[in-house]
Amino acid sequence: MSYGRDTSHALGMGDDVSNESLANLLKEERRFAPPADLAANANVTAAAYEQAAADRLGFWAAQARRLTWATEPTETLDWSNPPFAKWFADGKLNVAYNCVDRHVENGLGDRVAIHFEGEPGDTRAITYAELQREVSRAANALTELGVAAGDRVAIYLPMIPEAVIAMLACARLGAPHSVVFGGFSADALATRINDADARVVITADGGYRRGKPSALKPAVDEALTKPGTENVRSVLVVRRTGQEDVAWTEGRDVWWHDIVGRQSDTHTPEAFDAEHPLFILYTSGTTGKPKGILHTTGGYLTQVAYTHHAVFDLKPETDVYWCTADVGWVTGHSYITYGPLANGATEVLYEGTPDSPHQGRWWEIVQKYGVTILYTAPTAIRACMKWGDDIPAKYDLSSLRVLGSVGEPINPEAWMWYRKHIGADQAPIVDTWWQTETGGMMLSPLPGVTETKPGSAQRPLPGIAATVVDDEAREVPDGGGGYLVLTEPWPSMLRTIWGDDQRYLDTYWSRFEGKYFAGDGAKKDEDGDIWLLGRVDDVMLVSGHNISTTEVESALVSHPKVAEAAVVGATDPQTTQSICAFVILRGSAAEDEGLVEELRAHVGKQLGPIAKPKRVLPVAELPKTRSGKIMRRLLRDVAENRDLGDVSTLTDSGVMDLIQAKLPSAASED
Ligand code: WT7
Repeated sequence: MSYGRDTSHALGMGDDVSNESLANLLKEERRFAPPADLAANANVTAAAYEQAAADRLGFWAAQARRLTWATEPTETLDWSNPPFAKWFADGKLNVAYNCVDRHVENGLGDRVAIHFEGEPGDTRAITYAELQREVSRAANALTELGVAAGDRVAIYLPMIPEAVIAMLACARLGAPHSVVFGGFSADALATRINDADARVVITADGGYRRGKPSALKPAVDEALTKPGTENVRSVLVVRRTGQEDVAWTEGRDVWWHDIVGRQSDTHTPEAFDAEHPLFILYTSGTTGKPKGILHTTGGYLTQVAYTHHAVFDLKPETDVYWCTADVGWVTGHSYITYGPLANGATEVLYEGTPDSPHQGRWWEIVQKYGVTILYTAPTAIRACMKWGDDIPAKYDLSSLRVLGSVGEPINPEAWMWYRKHIGADQAPIVDTWWQTETGGMMLSPLPGVTETKPGSAQRPLPGIAATVVDDEAREVPDGGGGYLVLTEPWPSMLRTIWGDDQRYLDTYWSRFEGKYFAGDGAKKDEDGDIWLLGRVDDVMLVSGHNISTTEVESALVSHPKVAEAAVVGATDPQTTQSICAFVILRGSAAEDEGLVEELRAHVGKQLGPIAKPKRVLPVAELPKTRSGKIMRRLLRDVAENRDLGDVSTLTDSGVMDLIQAKLPSAASED
């Protein structure tokens, strides 16, 4: 197992450049207190930290009572065989019952659960009562197709209500789902079907992407020709686009509207053990075969429901919540399907992209539904920044009261833009750090409690134990840097990697004894607040200094001409690595002569001369995965003049040709 380069000069320790830069970023002492009215009515107050610190397990046992159990658990945590955790092990419950039926039983059947906004502009409002009928029908249909508790079901759908309904129907039957992002290729789908040994695939004829239907079913047909997928006996196909040329395999393929449509709309949910598998979700990582992250039932639902309630201050009677993620990512699992619906929220589900048919589409949706809580990713915020302030300014965004961020470190510049242009300078921003593996949020401000700082995820949530350690696993003092670790088990933690306990141990639990290694660099500021610095593999070593890619990117984006930046370390004979920066300029900025020098000087001034990029390359686009993470591996290949590796997970592989074409001429050497 490799953890990247030797980082024996523990990240950011002592007097190296990183501490100076953090001080720089903080020099304006920007702190934002919670709005008084929000603080006065907040779901969670500072007392939660004290309660959880005094009795962590008691705290989680209390949170588990947010759920409706068929058998109440008497045990909270069984950690007798670490790192294999059991939470609430003697409890039994049904996840779909908790997310749907119980709200109807509580008289909330007429409340809208999902406001669906299709990419072509079609809409559908689904109440909890309707959702109960739809989920019941789908569960009955899956039963007819032979799906029983324990069988794995692959879900490969666009962002349509059937995606949520399918997940809940699987959960209702105790059949673990494996949602595969609809943008993935037939190969990626086949690998995941094979690894989980899925028996049924739920898909659609297609979905809408930038105004046009985009087929999905052909990728399933192709995937099912590949070895290891022979056990798939049924393909359930939602008709979304109505394309006429859908290839059909008789005896295997069945239309959703045929089989689901004719089922009874009642279904009695069975209670499952708290540790019954709920889903497998594959995370690609940068190398190796994808890891099937396994989540189970009671602990997972407890933590996603609690964090959704606490971090967004959700008031289910009045809030309209919108998470822009795709259900193919863990954010969509935990904060579109399970957390919000367990809490009886009303939420928006949007099929399309932020710029189709125009760059104001998101803000139009916020205005239309009166969205009060928005949860999105820094990459999207930076894209909106690039398109210009005048676009959100055209819409009434005054309903927004809490803004969330997730997926990567949010640079202070984007944070400030989000606050000012989307949050009217008053909605608190919750920068939530977590992972597919953690299942739910782990570090985040609380909107009614925390004085927020642009760019910091700040501190572990109540009931979560996290810190920053150096290479020898020693906790670093305030002001120090190193690796983020989780020091106590948490309810929504992954239970293992599907079919590979050893890889689970090696990847997460062997770097520091008894601690979960998250793979992220982090530092503590003088107040003890935590700042995430990106993946450990992304830290650069320049002339003996550890420099974080995130910090150089933040410095670049703080220049008025830069909209977005990606920084990599390229092998360098003199300095071990040299810093190579790829930048996207803001709409109006010209790529003139002095620009590269100006940007280098700007970084030098912000972070110190050692952090000056050796090369700065203005580019039109950056290579990103479909979840918005920059593929630094590809940029390193370019920076080191290598042939490109696998580009199959890129959103747009043409991007790399454009970047490579730029390389020789735009380089600036010292
Ligand atoms: C990695 C996990 C969590 C859902 C989406 C991503 C990075 C995530 C933050 C944040 C800094 C963040 C980390 C983490 N990350 N949120 N608020 N600040 N970094 O899930 O694909 O499993 O990725 O995303 O590097 O380890 P994922």
